[in-house]
Amino acid sequence: MRSLSLLLAGISLSSCASAFTGGHRDIFHDEFGHEVRSDHDLRRRNIVYNGQISGSYDFVIVGGGTAGLAIAARLSEDSNHTVLVLEAGDTGDAVASSINIPGNAYYSSLLGSSYDWNYQTVPQDNAANRQIAWPRGKVLSGSSAINGLYAVRPSKLEVDAWGALVPGGDKWNWNSLFAAMKKSENFTAPSAQIEAEGSIMYDPASHGTSGPVHVSYPGYILPVVGNWTQTLSDIGIPFSADANGGDGWGGFIATSTINPANWTRSHSRAAYIDPLPPRPNLDILANSTVTRLIFAAGSPQNNLSVNSVEFAATRTGARQTVNVTKEVILAGGAIGSPQVLMLSGVGPSDVLQAVNIPVNVNLPGVGQHLQDHISTQVTFQTSDDTAASLHAANATDLPNGQSSPFLSFINSATAYANISDLLGDYYTTFQQDIASALSTSASTLVPSTDPTVRAGYEAIYNATVQLMGTPIGQIEILLSLTGTSQSSNKIIAIQAALQHPFSQGRLYINSSDPFDPPVIDPNYASHSADIVMLREGLKLARKLGGTAPLSSAVLSEVSPGAAVQSDDDWDAWAAKGFGTEFHPSCSCAMLPLAQGGVVDADLKVYGLGNVRVADASVFPIQFAAHLQMPTYGLAEQAANIVRAQWNGVALSQPSSVTPPTPTSTGGPKPTDNNTTSDAAALVPSISLALAGAVAVLAFGL
Ligand SMILES: Cc1cc2nc3c(=O)[nH]c(=O)nc-3n(C[C@H](O)[C@H](O)[C@H](O)COP(=O)(O)OP(=O)(O)OC[C@H]3O[C@@H](n4cnc5c(N)ncnc54)[C@H](O)[C@@H]3O)c2cc1C
Ligand SMILES: *[C@@H]1O[C@H](CO)[C@@H](O)[C@H](O)[C@H]1NC(C)=O
Ligand SMILES: *[C@@H]1O[C@H](CO)[C@@H](O)[C@H](O)[C@H]1NC(C)=O
Ligand SMILES: *[C@@H]1O[C@H](CO)[C@@H](O)[C@H](O)[C@H]1NC(C)=O
Ligand SMILES: *[C@@H]1O[C@H](CO)[C@@H](O)[C@H](O)[C@H]1NC(C)=O
Ligand SMILES: *[C@@H]1O[C@H](CO)[C@@H](O)[C@H](O)[C@H]1NC(C)=O
Ligand SMILES: *[C@@H]1O[C@H](CO)[C@@H](O)[C@H](O)[C@H]1NC(C)=O
Ligand SMILES: *[C@@H]1O[C@H](CO)[C@@H](O)[C@H](O)[C@H]1NC(C)=O
Ligand SMILES: *[C@@H]1O[C@H](CO)[C@@H](O)[C@H](O)[C@H]1NC(C)=O
Ligand SMILES: *[C@@H]1O[C@H](CO)[C@@H](O)[C@H](O)[C@H]1NC(C)=O
Ligand SMILES: *[C@@H]1O[C@H](CO)[C@@H](O)[C@H](O)[C@H]1NC(C)=O
Ligand SMILES: *[C@@H]1O[C@H](CO)[C@@H](O)[C@H](O)[C@H]1NC(C)=O
Ligand SMILES: *[C@@H]1O[C@H](CO)[C@@H](O)[C@H](O)[C@H]1NC(C)=O
Repeated sequence: MRSLSLLLAGISLSSCASAFTGGHRDIFHDEFGHEVRSDHDLRRRNIVYNGQISGSYDFVIVGGGTAGLAIAARLSEDSNHTVLVLEAGDTGDAVASSINIPGNAYYSSLLGSSYDWNYQTVPQDNAANRQIAWPRGKVLSGSSAINGLYAVRPSKLEVDAWGALVPGGDKWNWNSLFAAMKKSENFTAPSAQIEAEGSIMYDPASHGTSGPVHVSYPGYILPVVGNWTQTLSDIGIPFSADANGGDGWGGFIATSTINPANWTRSHSRAAYIDPLPPRPNLDILANSTVTRLIFAAGSPQNNLSVNSVEFAATRTGARQTVNVTKEVILAGGAIGSPQVLMLSGVGPSDVLQAVNIPVNVNLPGVGQHLQDHISTQVTFQTSDDTAASLHAANATDLPNGQSSPFLSFINSATAYANISDLLGDYYTTFQQDIASALSTSASTLVPSTDPTVRAGYEAIYNATVQLMGTPIGQIEILLSLTGTSQSSNKIIAIQAALQHPFSQGRLYINSSDPFDPPVIDPNYASHSADIVMLREGLKLARKLGGTAPLSSAVLSEVSPGAAVQSDDDWDAWAAKGFGTEFHPSCSCAMLPLAQGGVVDADLKVYGLGNVRVADASVFPIQFAAHLQMPTYGLAEQAANIVRAQWNGVALSQPSSVTPPTPTSTGGPKPTDNNTTSDAAALVPSISLALAGAVAVLAFGL
């Protein structure tokens, strides 16, 4: 995270040849068996390049990001329903290699480019008054096109805590979300060589194998990765043999959203849209920023109905509208979804009045309860090769496609450290102290005077403090091998990232112009518990660098270095350096209305008749996980819920949500059996080829 500027310096928006040139018009049969004469370019699959859309759709999805494209693919499995996706960003065709090659998340990053919203927080009091960059993907696939590809899941305890926060929350308990996450997934086991080199352990029974999102391991592993779980175990953090089945703690080598057929990124477009035949009932329109929802005149005040969606290509461009006959589904992400609600007059009345937007629904929780993971890193000089040094030496530039496995290397060595890993037995006192601080915290740290928002803060706080007494991760520790420092690319970084913050912030609009960014104030580290946990995580990171076998690759600590020793030293240093782990969420929290909730358990916005939110903004609590896999699970379950209402597809039988032909992405799958030789997979085989290559990273995620 701290070397973000170096990443930015390396941006090259090479206009590589689009994968979608050429094409032809044809009469063909769609997957539903209908003869189709499509205006779509046959190879461009449902993406509308000529701007011509219909005047009206059953479902309009706002935001073609991670969740939005997944939902669009599922809803359009029903040939009777028309679906339109409006995406603010471009298609991504012009930057295909930056997106598709996993390693280019580091070497040809789109961060800072026009494919990034380039948000910034307001100056943060507890971060040395810094404004902190908040990248978000502005392109089809959203943040899944620019993220770090980590594919990890929250734990059962956390997901069940979410489900318990809202009436009807059994749709969001572990069993439901686990099934939905598996439905989205096509897991490929590592090769025997990669499994051995990385000391990888996994249980295939915890994975799906018939879903659209590819989940696998890189085709090349740096040897130091194979020392990761052993080193953790040596400091008392045991390895996890199955981090994906609900017990997501301990040390492990994480899967990534990589298609192992060609070592390319499996983002939401590649997974859910590109493999589809053209569907006459699905249109995806890029360069279309939704500016507001327009409500039907005369619809009931407590149950307003949207009848059209307004959008524009640019700030000064003409406003267009498209009618919606069934539902609007907001999937603009943690920033875009609350922003569109506020622009539509749905949000805190004081915020709306300040910018002269008529209040349609006073919904105080919109933009509140904003939570994020904060992260920084301890860096070490190494004598080994790193991914960055191999890349800088062009060692990964090999002919005939041999580079692909090398360039699929991304960071994946991970651990979720629990509260006693951080604090030992003192944790019970710490937990007690936090519990006792509930009412002071609610009255001093919540950026709203609204009593419902404060009640929501308390409910989230209560759930978070209770989870603290369990083995779930409080700090994520990441081995980062792809980055550089100012002077060297032979850097090993060990990052620590806070997973269950007690700080909550907010975002709000201060302009009625949809092309102005909202004001983002995560209120980072406002609760002192967050500072303590981050500090103790950083100490663990330092300790890991000094522990064998990892220490055999370490020459010396680069940062923060020997001058940082006391707790005060650590806190002062961290405040100057921490950034986002890129996981903002909870800004349209699924909570009861009396607790400042924005959506109910069916994802419906309170006070609106036909609007749901379905993206990372609705999680009411943070998880010890990166957010794309729970977001795919949420999207799958959202589609199940919508189809249960409109198609009579029973919610309890998600496998009946089945497209009629095998060419489509959905589909039933047989029970996942343990077909691979997993006795071997589960044995920690720390066989270390000393070929010697490591690498450092530039950003976390
Ligand atoms: C740099 C970075 C690294 C990350 N690394 C990882 C990782 O390694 N692993 C992981 O699991 N997670 C990672 N994440 C987080 C993860 O990618 C996101 O949490 C997740 O993709 C969010 O999905 P979403 O559908 O909520 O939003 P998004 O995928 O961001 O989609 C929102 C979409 O809505 C569009 N939009 C917004 N407003 C409007 C509007 N008004 N009109 C039309 N369209 C609009 C946006 O352009 C975007 O396409 C990372 C995120 C970032 C930014
Ligand atoms: C989107 O806008 C950009 C910038 O004007 C343009 O280059 C691109 O071709 C547009 N994309 C589509 C699909 O129209
Ligand atoms: C859109 O809705 C408006 C208002 O209800 C109506 O007048 C118009 O005919 C609709 N357009 C289409 C294409 O359905
Ligand atoms: C589409 O509608 C027709 C006519 O109402 C109905 O017979 C058919 O079952 C529907 N198809 C699906 C996939 O729901
Ligand atoms: C798969 O194998 C693992 C390890 O042997 C076992 O723990 C798990 O229960 C098995 N799962 C199934 C579905 O058989
Ligand atoms: C899953 O991925 C494997 C490996 O690329 C591929 O062979 C298989 O066809 C995929 N399965 C589905 C259902 O897409
Ligand atoms: C991994 O650990 C072994 C000792 O167990 C050591 O010999 C080797 O050098 C280490 N390799 C790397 C790359 O750190
Ligand atoms: C990667 O392979 C898949 C098939 O598994 C294909 O659909 C996709 O187009 C390929 N991606 C690239 C960038 O070549
Ligand atoms: C790597 O390739 C680039 C571009 O071809 C070249 O400029 C650079 O000098 C090469 N670096 C090394 C170390 O060979
Ligand atoms: C949180 O827990 C405290 C203490 O148990 C309790 O007084 C309070 O009502 C709870 N708040 C909410 C919103 O659940
Ligand atoms: C944290 O993990 C350690 C090691 O597995 C375990 O002994 C301990 O009980 C866990 N702590 C909590 C609070 O569950
Ligand atoms: C609210 O409006 C929707 C249509 O927008 C309708 O389906 C629903 O029944 C209405 N709910 C109530 C409680 O009137
Ligand atoms: C999994 O095992 C069950 C019980 O042995 C069997 O009925 C089923 O066909 C198996 N599924 C696959 C995909 O092998």
